[in-house]
Amino acid sequence: MPTADLIWLNGEFVAWEDAKVHVLTHGLHYGTGVFEGIRAYEQPDGNPGIFRHQDHLDRLEKSAELYYMDLPYSKEELREVTHELVGRNGFKSCYIRPLVYRGHGPMGLYPLNNPVEVTIACWEWGAYLGDEAKQNGVRAHVSSWRRISHDSLIPHSKASGQYLNSVLAKIVAEKAGYEEAILLDEHGYVCEGTGENVYVIRDGVIYTPGHTNGILDGITRMAIFEIAKDLGYEIVERNIARSELTLADEVFLTGTAAELTPMASIDDHKIGTGTPGPVTREIQGVFEDALHGRNPRYTKWLDVVRVPSKA
Ligand SMILES: Cc1ncc(COP(=O)(O)O)c(C=O)c1O
Repeated sequence: MPTADLIWLNGEFVAWEDAKVHVLTHGLHYGTGVFEGIRAYEQPDGNPGIFRHQDHLDRLEKSAELYYMDLPYSKEELREVTHELVGRNGFKSCYIRPLVYRGHGPMGLYPLNNPVEVTIACWEWGAYLGDEAKQNGVRAHVSSWRRISHDSLIPHSKASGQYLNSVLAKIVAEKAGYEEAILLDEHGYVCEGTGENVYVIRDGVIYTPGHTNGILDGITRMAIFEIAKDLGYEIVERNIARSELTLADEVFLTGTAAELTPMASIDDHKIGTGTPGPVTREIQGVFEDALHGRNPRYTKWLDVVRVPSKA
């Protein structure tokens, strides 16, 4: 269970146990919210560094705008309160969850007269798919649930209600004994995991689905593109057939929560040797160094929190 001393709610820092909403909050009934998943990592100087913070704030604003919500605070204000929140909670490394949602107001499906509310929480959260998975890879299957399509929802908005799609796929995967699900898009091409983008490596080339496949425009994905190119790899966005997952030399997943997690098998077929391959390992190593401020080339991605901790 996540916990911290303080949460930021609609302009105030409140105690964790006092961060409450009304049961008639619109977002609770109809999923009318958008959110971000962000991580901060302890840097060599001991301060937390928020990874690609500005990109997350930009995506939050875009996700909200796509659902006709104006942020009631500027992105700079949200950045500053996030620094204060992490600092006052005394975290060196943590997960950060801003949520923008339609609050208590008129009931019904027309939400534009409901207030737009904002909360930011943070807590300490280890490897989302587990340390073992980060080391040795996850067992995944191809879900019978398809990823939400462009003509019914907005795949590139990180919207609360849209996550029912991932929740269904995750439940079915775990009940069937797998750790993760890969969802195909509406046309049957590989799209992504329940909370991760996916990459397929064959003969040293990295392939990944593109926007037409209905992916979430992952912020980790942007970093992986840059790292892979810097390492001299070719990275190609194109349609990927389901069978390419089994034919691949290596497959890996990326996301803020899951970081870079290799995939060991798909539908019980080993991927490559069944252990993380050399390209995955190399990119994972550089990515981990970037997160922890150990590679000067990528410190530009870190928004370091300088607020004194509560100690
Ligand atoms: C459905 C989905 N796809 C992809 C991602 C990866 O995005 P990011 O790297 O920005 O965390 C996430 C996680 O946020 C996600 O929920």
